[in-house]
Amino acid sequence: MTIAISSLTKRFDQTAVLRGIDLTINDGELVALLGPSGSGKTTLLKIIAGLDWPDAGGLVVNGQDWLPLPAQKRRIGFVFQHYALFPHMTVRDNIAFGLTVRPKSERPSKTAIAAKVDDLLGLLQIPHLADRFPAQLSGGQRQRVALGRALAIEPAVLLLDEPFGALDAAIRRDLRAWLREVHQATGSTTLFVTHDQEEAFELADRVVVMGEGRIEQIGSADQIHDHPASPFVARFMGAVVELPVTLRAGRAEAAGLDARMLERRAMADGPAQLFLRPDAIALDADPASPWILSHKASNGAMIRATLRRADGTEVPVDLLRHSAPDLSLGTAYRLRPLTGAVFPLDGVAQNDAPRPLPILKEKRQ
Ligand SMILES: Nc1ncnc2c1ncn2[C@@H]1O[C@H](COP(=O)(O)OP(=O)(O)O)[C@@H](O)[C@H]1O
Ligand SMILES: [Mg+2]
Repeated sequence: MTIAISSLTKRFDQTAVLRGIDLTINDGELVALLGPSGSGKTTLLKIIAGLDWPDAGGLVVNGQDWLPLPAQKRRIGFVFQHYALFPHMTVRDNIAFGLTVRPKSERPSKTAIAAKVDDLLGLLQIPHLADRFPAQLSGGQRQRVALGRALAIEPAVLLLDEPFGALDAAIRRDLRAWLREVHQATGSTTLFVTHDQEEAFELADRVVVMGEGRIEQIGSADQIHDHPASPFVARFMGAVVELPVTLRAGRAEAAGLDARMLERRAMADGPAQLFLRPDAIALDADPASPWILSHKASNGAMIRATLRRADGTEVPVDLLRHSAPDLSLGTAYRLRPLTGAVFPLDGVAQNDAPRPLPILKEKRQ
């Protein structure tokens, strides 16, 4: 099923919650929708499911206009963060539910339903839980059952709204790998919502970053990390270091900054803002640099170094402890970013729509 979403807008009272969403999800694709709380992710999912309606825009699935279709006609599988399984029903009956409530003419036979549930129990790796009740399951097991219930109806589209949000980090990691396998086996067109970037990047080939009702960027993990399309995405991806720089021939310049490893940007010379992630900065001793190592702390694996300038500005830098140079407090170091993004100052101030900056062609460097 190909889902084509075009110019979708939605307001609640005075608040614009979706501000023109354009997104196509290809047949069989697993797309992650990543964004902070309140960015409109759940609202978009509800509109696709037929649980809410947009003010304007289109939703076309495999060439069919879905907006006039009621939820029951859309064949959607939906899993929420807190998915209420029926407490008085066994796992088997919970998974079978969507099939048993079908009108008689469309309902599979009892044996067909039992066979389907057995298949799903196997796929979900929970055959041993078939006769338990939800209260006898762990959180992770419950979410597997919830997914089984969503998959039983052979949904045209599978919508997962932070399905692992309430679970421990280790269990989430297991479930992620498992969900990828389930997706490969079923091939359902899937939209997975999360506010956790690690989860989004590990699960999906294509990640859609949302902020305040807009799509800020669509891309792979590497593209979004290395070429954030806006200050919003840069900050959301952890670029908490923001330094004023001067751009000359596409290259960022500032005292104590060695930006040679960054790609040149096709931008006019002048003031700009450089966004860096603490884990993508190397340090080189340089007595001429204004950045002085003022603090360092180790968690065993990583060293967090704090560089401080005379005006009080601080830059955090995270280094792998075993490959970090011997850093000494009070010494001056030059910042050598490994990746980073530059944006014009006006764009940073307004934090408005994404403005990707083209990379200069080789011949112009
Ligand atoms: N039924 C509603 N009535 C009014 N405001 C709503 C309603 N549902 C969501 N909102 C608002 O819309 C915005 C986006 O919400 P939501 O889609 O749930 O975001 P997300 O899932 O990304 O956290 C939030 O500011 C939220 O308060
Ligand atoms: Mg939500």
